[in-house]
Amino acid sequence: MAACRFRRSIAAQLSHILEVPPENLIKSITAVPVSKKRLPIDFQLIVSSVLDTNSSSHSRSDVQLQTQKIAEKLKCDAVVTEISTGEGTVNFTINQELLTKTVLQKVREDGSQYGIKSELFSQLPKRKILVEFSSPNIAKKFHVGHLRSTIIGNFIANLKEAIGHHVTRINYLGDWGMQFGLLGAGFHRFGCEEKLKLNPLQHLFEVYVQVHKASEEDKNITELAQDFFRKLEARDEQAISLWQRFRDVSIEEYVQMYKRLGVHFDEYSGESLYQEQCQDVLKMLDMKGLLKKTKEGAGIVYLSEKGDQSTVMRSDGTSLYITRDLAAAIDRMNKCNPDTMIYVTDKSQSSHFQQLFRILKLLGYEWAERCQHVPFGRVQGMKTRKGDVVFLEDVLDEACSMTLERMASAKTSKELDNPLETAERIGLAAVIIQDFRGLLSSDYQFSWDHVLQSRGDTGVFMQYTHARLYSLEKMCGTVSQASHINTARLQDPQAVSLIKHLLRYDEILYRSSQDLQPKHIVSYLLTLSHLVAAAHKQLPVKGSVPELAEARICLFQAARSVLANGMKLLGIMPVNRM
Ligand code: ARG
Repeated sequence: MAACRFRRSIAAQLSHILEVPPENLIKSITAVPVSKKRLPIDFQLIVSSVLDTNSSSHSRSDVQLQTQKIAEKLKCDAVVTEISTGEGTVNFTINQELLTKTVLQKVREDGSQYGIKSELFSQLPKRKILVEFSSPNIAKKFHVGHLRSTIIGNFIANLKEAIGHHVTRINYLGDWGMQFGLLGAGFHRFGCEEKLKLNPLQHLFEVYVQVHKASEEDKNITELAQDFFRKLEARDEQAISLWQRFRDVSIEEYVQMYKRLGVHFDEYSGESLYQEQCQDVLKMLDMKGLLKKTKEGAGIVYLSEKGDQSTVMRSDGTSLYITRDLAAAIDRMNKCNPDTMIYVTDKSQSSHFQQLFRILKLLGYEWAERCQHVPFGRVQGMKTRKGDVVFLEDVLDEACSMTLERMASAKTSKELDNPLETAERIGLAAVIIQDFRGLLSSDYQFSWDHVLQSRGDTGVFMQYTHARLYSLEKMCGTVSQASHINTARLQDPQAVSLIKHLLRYDEILYRSSQDLQPKHIVSYLLTLSHLVAAAHKQLPVKGSVPELAEARICLFQAARSVLANGMKLLGIMPVNRM
């Protein structure tokens, strides 16, 4: 990785001065973000992070003194052409031509691995990671929370996989519970085989709404539903076979919808799978003396001395959501022993997961510490023109049709072979970028108008940038080897900024991989898009002398490569024309 070569070189010198192994210094040397001031500094050493952490905190003047001392001992060489100091930093300027050449060559050589082959990741042990996400409830609403879980989980899985971990993607369906009692009881009355085949999710939802309503007026239906659910729990053949069909047709349709999103799962699991194992969990809790009974006969577990508790068994002996989660977690650990197990849901379930992990710990499972809940905030206002979101399909259709309308009215739109697919990709990019811009845990207000703007910090703008770079390559050709280009031709400020920005990509990936927040990558790619726009304006390829044109093409090619890599990590499929 480009940046690493320079970090290593700086670390090697520093290592002698500070008497610290160079690998311990790498993470304290960071590439400087491009700023309006266009400072001629490429890397900085954050001095406070390399000072002896044993001696109590260093005062500012102390750090400054150390900064001066370090800087005085450093020497310029073939790589570093200038050394200066800032507030708590030692600043390095890299030989400009070497920097340009290295970055462009590395982007070319490493392709989709650019940034990942970095030293920042080289010491990372390869892990087995299980990511559970999306997890909608059959026959119920697929709300915005499920959409967020889907795109966030997909991003986390993509990123973990990209940096070399072994990832298993699990969809844990809400495929058990009273809604199936109602569906079972009401299907012969409100259901229709044809519709079930054609549009299973929609139909099951409709039937559910109808039976549910009818049950409020007619106590008989409630009883029938309870009966049916009891039969299910007792594995009655007929009941199970109907339920199985509901589940199968639903999954088939989910798979199609996820395909539109570019999302796949290695496993469709679900609450139903753990109904029996729940009894083992309850036995285990009982044996360890953790299961207490309430007056009414429900089973609870005390979570701490303070007396907070979690109900794990209904008074009739049946399991609850958390009981099934306990069984599922234990089963997954037994079967594949992942190093990390990640759950992606909205933050309203945070306390559920804290309780889950706590009970696992109480049961003596040390691996509970390897479980992690990634919570996200609420979205207001994600509605289609027809109303609220019920199905994932509704959001995708809305994004696609609105994009199509805008494309039709925009003057710059091209004749496309496949306008629908393009609109779908643009619409999805718009939704994803809006969603990933802030901290995952923050709530935000969604507006179609806002997300579909072609200027400003949107997914549409990002797609537009990619398409523009692609068409530049189509028009002006590509450069097959970066080593031949004359880097002296890339000294315009717009070119230098772009190179400097490309240099930092590994640090951005690293940051997102540490805190699992996509916002670092999003803002990086938006800045990249703006830098590309500025460069595109100032650095024409057409009409330039061949040597200059070639150097610029090479630069734009590198920008497109990194842009596409980053977009794919976020779960966006870049478009070539729009
Ligand atoms: N189906 C649940 C819901 O829609 C989400 C499941 C989350 N995962 C879990 N292991 N509890 O709220």
